[in-house]
Parts: sequence; structure tokens; C-alpha cells
Amino acid sequence: MCGIVGYIGPKEKKEILLEGLQELEYRGYDSAGIALIENDTLKYFKSIGKLENLRVKTKNYTSEGFGVCIGHTRWATHGKPTELNAHPHLGAYSFVIHNGIIENYQEIKDELLAGGVNFLSQTDTETIVHYFEKNCKRNGHAFEAFQQTVERLQGAYATLLISEAAPDTIFFAKNGSPMLIAFDGDDVYFASSDSPVIGRATEVYYLEDGEYGYAKAGEVKLFDENGEKSFTRQALTADKVLAQKDGYRFFMEKEIYEQSRVMGETMMGRVLDESIVFDELDNSLFEGIKAIKICACGTSYHSALTSAYLFERIAKVRCDVEIASEFRYKEPLLTKDTLFITISQSGETADTLEALKMAKRAGLKSLSICNVDNSSIVRESDAAILTRAGIEKGVASTKAFATQTMVLWMLALYMGQERATVSSARLKAEIGAMLHTPKALIVTDELHAKLHRLSKRYLHGHGFFFIGRDIFFPLALEGALKLKEISYLHAEGYPAGEMKHGPIALADSELFTIALMPKTMHYDKIKSNVEELSARDATILAISPEPFKLADDFIQTQYSSHPMVEFFEMMVVTQLLALEISVRLGNDVDMPRNLAKSVTVE
Ligand code: AGP
Repeated sequence: MCGIVGYIGPKEKKEILLEGLQELEYRGYDSAGIALIENDTLKYFKSIGKLENLRVKTKNYTSEGFGVCIGHTRWATHGKPTELNAHPHLGAYSFVIHNGIIENYQEIKDELLAGGVNFLSQTDTETIVHYFEKNCKRNGHAFEAFQQTVERLQGAYATLLISEAAPDTIFFAKNGSPMLIAFDGDDVYFASSDSPVIGRATEVYYLEDGEYGYAKAGEVKLFDENGEKSFTRQALTADKVLAQKDGYRFFMEKEIYEQSRVMGETMMGRVLDESIVFDELDNSLFEGIKAIKICACGTSYHSALTSAYLFERIAKVRCDVEIASEFRYKEPLLTKDTLFITISQSGETADTLEALKMAKRAGLKSLSICNVDNSSIVRESDAAILTRAGIEKGVASTKAFATQTMVLWMLALYMGQERATVSSARLKAEIGAMLHTPKALIVTDELHAKLHRLSKRYLHGHGFFFIGRDIFFPLALEGALKLKEISYLHAEGYPAGEMKHGPIALADSELFTIALMPKTMHYDKIKSNVEELSARDATILAISPEPFKLADDFIQTQYSSHPMVEFFEMMVVTQLLALEISVRLGNDVDMPRNLAKSVTVE
């Protein structure tokens, strides 16, 4: 998600912008830029990579006197992370920054191109500033030009625009992406969330969808479709960490709730109406490839296991999955017709990085699926697909797992397209299910409240079994890991069909079985596995769209036509169950004992 900061006033602006953007780094980004107007002249600086690069570029610059300024960190959606695509975007005498997606940007851009406007970037954002200047030239009144621009835009946006046509003004508009206005006397601030302005401003107004306007020193005019409107400021919190949690109790909780939104970003520009595209991949990567080997650790290993079913079922390509720490020392047989994929949220996991280096020494082509651009694993790989989950602060991984699994599903379908193993009807059905996934990830109050109530019964016992079949077996492994990590209770993920080969000996009323019972995948078989456990007095928590009368507890999920949609919905249930049990046990949900967010040692 992009970060936005703006300021009007006499204070030094570079530090306000850079420090403010630094507070938004947790959202993740791949480029950054600032623009200022002081003494009626425009200045701007942009850089790719981390904010430190922008600090280097601006080290000899300090602003002077009254002025307006805007700053932005970009998470690439349209166009690669380059300096040209970095915000702010420049017109002839104006700058704009934007978070979101302008859905009708192409039609506006085509009109502007036909009118002789030159575009420097591949972004949807640049359309805003050129359209503003087209309107401005026409009627000469900057705010009316901005008003006409906003009225034309469709989609999600939080945008700030400054112009030499109004050198003491910041124009703003908000629809679908967050943005606030903050106040300190006559000084006015803008930001995507609280943390950049905490400690600088004392009052805040959180813009609503459809609101826009302009700000000058000591004056903010707010409008919506009904014309000018009044607004009430409220006191701004002084607690930055609390602010970064956006009102949730833990980063992990926030990240579970974010899954629905970030999944849309993971798919953006990649899942099209009738095809999957990866701009970041060159088809040469797949030339001569007859098999896939995936290496990962922990939760990333679980998304890898899930994808093995998909690669073989959809792309008809053999797929082996290995735990990196085992792979490193097993003297593996590696052949050059194998594509070596590593999966890592951090991109710094030592075992996974070393496994990658082994594969490269053996001459294999490599692809990483990672959440952190420019990380060691990304840099070491021939190609990389970023999951775009945004920075994940909870040690127990949630949205990274969800987006890894989605990228792998997309990749299986992409390879199916390239290898002609998928019919157009199957392709459309899979894409339809993908596009429905963000809805399946929505956390309803009813579901969360039920899991909160139900969790009180699972605070002891001699252990948990999470059981599932097919892709729900790796999900069972992941559910067990989540619970272990943050509750410190013992849990195992197990193939449901394997319980009768030994583990069922553990069945009694103190053995808690979390049964993943999808309707779209071997339902009758999983049902009989669970009945065997219930017959031996195991306590059953069934998760299924189909009511199961032998369950001691039951979470009803939605009927779906696709197993992956059931997968993601059940994933949310297991994440919230672990969270609520951990909370009841009084554990540190975000930083569980003995664990680190990135295991950079063997
Ligand atoms: C997941 O909840 C854990 N924090 C851990 O298993 C993690 O998945 C593992 O250490 C791998 O990390 P990576 O994805 O950053 O490589």
C-alpha cells in the first residue's frame, strides 16, 4: 500500500516529509519521492528502493520559508518500480501523488495523448495531473479544474496535488483509500494514517469517501457531491504504535483483517478477465522445464505444499517440496530441467537462501516468491514474484501465507496456459474463483465473536490435531503451526486419512480435533475420518459449509464451487482461533516467546 504525507506552513519541509514517510514504511514500498513549492517555484526529488536513497539525494537541500509540499512511497501496481514511475508525477507546472487505482485512467489517458500530452510514466496516477492542467488551462481556475478532475475519476484514490497555478494550496481528494487532514495552529498536514503526524499535529479529521477540497494555511474547504460541507476535528492520539495497529489489538489481528484487501493487490495487473500475466517473468525461465522443486521453511513450506497439488493438477508439471534445512544436507539429485522455486516472506531465511545457492551452483534456473523486494533471496534468484502483502509485523505469518498461496495458484494457472494443459473454460472458472477470494477472506463480526466465545473451551487438553485432505492437509499443518506459535499449546497437522494408522490411539475427550471438512474436496471421506474420531470420544471442532451433527463445536463456512475459496475461508477461521486462544492465555500475540520474524541463522 502506498504512503502519503503533505504539509502547508513555514516549517522545514524535507524532514517533515521524510520522517512522515518513514513512519509509513511498514506498509511496504519500492520507490519514494517528494515535491515542494516555495517562493512560487517547484522542486522535486525521487528515488527507487528505500527512503535512505531519497535521503542521500536530498542531503544538500533544506527548504526555506512558507510553502506547500507532498511526499509519497510507492508500492508498484501499474508499471515497474522505476524512478519514472515513482511519485510525485509532474505535469507542466503541477505535481500529484496518489494511493489506489484509477479504473478509468486509460480512457482519460487516451484523450490526453490524442490532445498531444506526453506521458513519462506507465502509471495511472500521471493521468490525474495532466487532466488537471488540461482543465486548468481551459478555465484558469485551479480549484474548479481540480473539482472537474475529481468528478471524472473512477476507482479508489487518496490524492494530493500541488501547482504553481495555486502555490499556497494543496488540493486533496479521497475515495476508497485512507487519508486524513491534521492541524497544528495554522499549519495543515495530510497523511495516509496517523503515525506521520503524531507529535506534530494536535487535531485530526479523517476524510470520508467522496470528499475533496483544498487547504491553505489556516483554511480548509471541504466538499462532496452535494457541495461545500462543514467538518469536526477530533483530538489526535499521541501513541504511534497504537496508531500503526489502526485500532486492532495486535499487528497479527490487523494483518488477518488486511488479507481481503491485500489479496486484491496481489492479483492486480496479474489476474485478468481471461488470463494470468506476470510482467516480471520472462518466458525463457520456463524453457526446457519438466519439473518444479520448491524449498521453504515454516509457513512458507506450507504454502509450497499446497501449491504442489495445484502445479500437478493444473499445469501437469511434477512438483516436489522440500524443507530447506533438510534439503541443504541430503546431497539432493538436481537436474537442469527443474525450476527451483524458493518461498519466503522475509527473503532472508538462512536455510532457504543456502538451498537456493546450492541449486544455482547446480545450474538450475531459480524463481523466488517473496514479500520483500531487494531481499537476499530476491537478489539471488533469476526471477522473483512479489506477494505485495505489505510489511508483515506479526511474527506468526498470516497475510504472507495467504498471498504466497495465491501467487502459487496464479503461477500454476500461468504455467497451465503456457503448457496448454488448461481449457479456456477451466481457466475462466479458476479466475472466477480467484477474483472471489477477497470476499472469502472478509472477517465478519459474527465469525470473530463466535471464535472468541468458543476459544475458552480450548485452553488446556493434551493436544490438538488439525486434520484435512488434499490441499487441506497443508492448511491443517499451517493451522497447527499458528496455534503452537502463539498459544504454546501442542498441536499437530495430520492427513485425515492417516489418523487410523496410529494417532487415533490418542483419541479421548481431551484430544481436540480441528477438522477441515470442505464440501468441494473428498467430503465423504473426511466425514468418515472424523466420525471415527468422534466414536472414540475425541472433542471435535468441525469447520465446514455442511452442518455436522457429531461436532462438539461447529463453524459454518460458505458453500463455494471451488476448493481454493473454501481453503482461504477456512484459513481465516484457523488464524482467528489461534489468535483468540492466545489472547485468553495472555500471551504476546505479535512477539511470541523464542521466535523471531526472520530466522537469519541456521
Ligand atoms: C510462520 O508463522 C513463522 N513465523 C515461521 O515459520 C516462518 O514462516 C519461517 O521462519 C519462514 O520465514 P520466511 O517465510 O521469511 O522465509
